[in-house]
Amino acid sequence: MSMLNGQVSLQNLVSMELLTNEEVLGLIRRGSDFKNGRATFKPKRQYFVANLFFESSTRTHKSFEVAEMRLGLNLIDFDAKTSSVNKGETLYDTVLTLSALGADVCVIRHPDVDYYKQLVESGHINSAIINGGDGSGQHPSQSLLDLMTIYEEFGHFEQLKIAICGDLTHSRVAKSNMQILKRLGAELYFTGPAEWYSEEFDVYGRHVAIDDVIDELDVVMLLRVQHERHDGETSFSKESYNSQFGLTQARYDCLKDQAIVMHPAPVNRGVEIDDHLVEAPKSRIVAQMANGVFVRMAIIEAVLRDRA
Ligand code: CP
Repeated sequence: MSMLNGQVSLQNLVSMELLTNEEVLGLIRRGSDFKNGRATFKPKRQYFVANLFFESSTRTHKSFEVAEMRLGLNLIDFDAKTSSVNKGETLYDTVLTLSALGADVCVIRHPDVDYYKQLVESGHINSAIINGGDGSGQHPSQSLLDLMTIYEEFGHFEQLKIAICGDLTHSRVAKSNMQILKRLGAELYFTGPAEWYSEEFDVYGRHVAIDDVIDELDVVMLLRVQHERHDGETSFSKESYNSQFGLTQARYDCLKDQAIVMHPAPVNRGVEIDDHLVEAPKSRIVAQMANGVFVRMAIIEAVLRDRA
C-alpha cells in the first residue's frame, strides 16, 4: 500500500485495520471527487472484475457493479448458486480460477471471518481482493462510505461524538467503524443490549444508555439487528427493542440541530428506527447508499493503480 501525490494505491482492501489514516482520507476525498465530477478514471488497459457474493446483498453487490460500470470495467458474471462451488470447489480454488482467467479484481462477500487471509497470503492469486464483508469480521467498503458521509457533513472526525447502537457483537460494520473512528479522533459511545456488548470494545469507547447521551451526539450510527447470526432467542420483542434501544421520535427530537442519523441498511423499520424516521431530515441513510457507489469507485481505482 502506498500514496503518491495524494493518490492511494492498494494491493487489496480486506480490513480497515490495514489502512493508514492518510489512505482512509485519500479514499474518501477521491470518492467525493468522483461524486462531484472532479475525478476521472484513466484506464491503462482493459480491466476485468468478478463479484463473488456467498451471502445475500443488495447495496454492496449492486453498488460495486455500478461503480465498476462507471469505471468502464468488464464484469465477469458469477453466481455462487450455479458455480462449481456446488460441486465442492473451495473458495480458494474458485478465486484461483478467476485469477487465471484474468480477473484483475475479485470483490468477495463470504460468511467465514478472515476468509481473505488464505487468498492474499497464498502468493498464487494475481487478482486484487476487495472484502465485501466477512461474516461478523470486517466490512471495509461500508466503513469507507460511512466515513465519507460523516466527512461530507462535518469535514473532520476529531472530537465528534458518535454512538454506535445495537447489535455490536454480530456487526462487521461496527467492528470496522469503531477501530477507524477511534483512530481518527472521534469520541465513541456504544448503546444497546448488554448481551451484544463485549469488554473487547472498551478500548474504543464506553457502553452507555442511549438516553444518557442522545442530546450530545453528532452522529447516531444505528446497526441492524442481525437475526440470521443469532443462535437462540433474544430477551426482547421488536417493540421492546425499539422502545429501549431504538431511535424513536422522542429520541430524534432530543438530537442537536446538526446531528445526523446513519444506518448501513437493510433497516428493520420500526425496530432500530421508527419507520417514518428513515427518510427524516437528519437521516443520511439514503445518502450513505448513494455514497457507496463513489467510494467504491475510489477503492477499485486504488487497487488498479499499480497493476501492470
Ligand atoms: N450495508 C450492506 O452491506 O448492505 P447489503 O447487505 O445489502 O450489501
